[in-house]
Amino acid sequence: MPRILRFLSCFAFIAAAGAAIAAAPAGEPQGPPPRPIPGLTAPDQFPRGCVDCHVVIPDRKMDVRLSTLMRQWQDKVEPALLERVRPFTPGEIALKGKHPKFEVAGAEVPKACLTCHARTSKAAPPLGRMLHGLHLVGGEKNHFLTQFQGECTHCHRLETATGNWVLKSGAEPK
Ligand code: HEC
Ligand code: HEC
Ligand code: HEC
Repeated sequence: MPRILRFLSCFAFIAAAGAAIAAAPAGEPQGPPPRPIPGLTAPDQFPRGCVDCHVVIPDRKMDVRLSTLMRQWQDKVEPALLERVRPFTPGEIALKGKHPKFEVAGAEVPKACLTCHARTSKAAPPLGRMLHGLHLVGGEKNHFLTQFQGECTHCHRLETATGNWVLKSGAEPK
């Protein structure tokens, strides 16, 4: 490269760097604010996880408490739900479409569910896989994605002091 050009390109680089520094004065934020993530950058509206969200919704005349759903499953699982759960269940577990007896009210949820729905269970669908499937799959047809933005932190909580993830838990009122 001729000497004069090398000199000019060097000058251009310094001018560009100077402009970049002028555009972002030291001490000011460099980008947009963080997106609101429940429990991390925004308030956590469901600190006890499942039982804070699966409640009675009077405005919409809905009762989606897990105790209510569980009573239905113990009678008969709707074929549509059974179809949805199947792909999120290991092949060796054949779902019968009837849930074993279990009293939800008063139990720590989902801790109590995990006694049967453990990761290695051969009798009940492992809970994480089943719930990830039910809440995070289906795009705009899934209300957890459209109404609750599919946030991991509705069920999981980050202990900001240690960096550990914990599963939120709590009991439905009896
Ligand atoms: C912030 C709200 C929220 C939280 C927290 C939450 N869920 Fe859900 N859950 C939903 C919504 C919304 C749906 C319906 C998804 C859809 O459109 O299919 C759902 C669906 C389900 C279903 C399927 C019910 C059916 O009849 O189709 C089960 C089972 C379930 N949730 C269990 C749980 C458990 C157990 C936990 C805790 C580990 C939990 N959920 C945490 C909102 C929540
Ligand atoms: C006593 C053991 C046990 C406990 C406790 C338990 N489950 Fe289950 N669950 C099972 C078994 C076994 C199945 C498979 C039932 C079948 O064959 O249809 C199952 C299936 C399910 C299904 C799929 C629908 C069905 O019944 O097939 C859902 C959803 C479910 N459980 C949610 C829960 C939740 C949420 C909790 C905690 C509130 C829970 N379970 C607690 C044993 C248990
Ligand atoms: C509806 C509640 C719910 C939501 C939402 C949720 N999880 Fe989970 N997650 C669980 C449960 C329950 C377990 C099982 C814990 C166990 O078996 O001890 C789990 C377990 C896990 C595990 C451990 C590995 C496994 O599969 O057992 C990882 C990793 C994980 N979740 C990541 C995520 C990520 C990433 C998101 C968001 C995209 C998310 N989860 C959203 C309930 C949820």
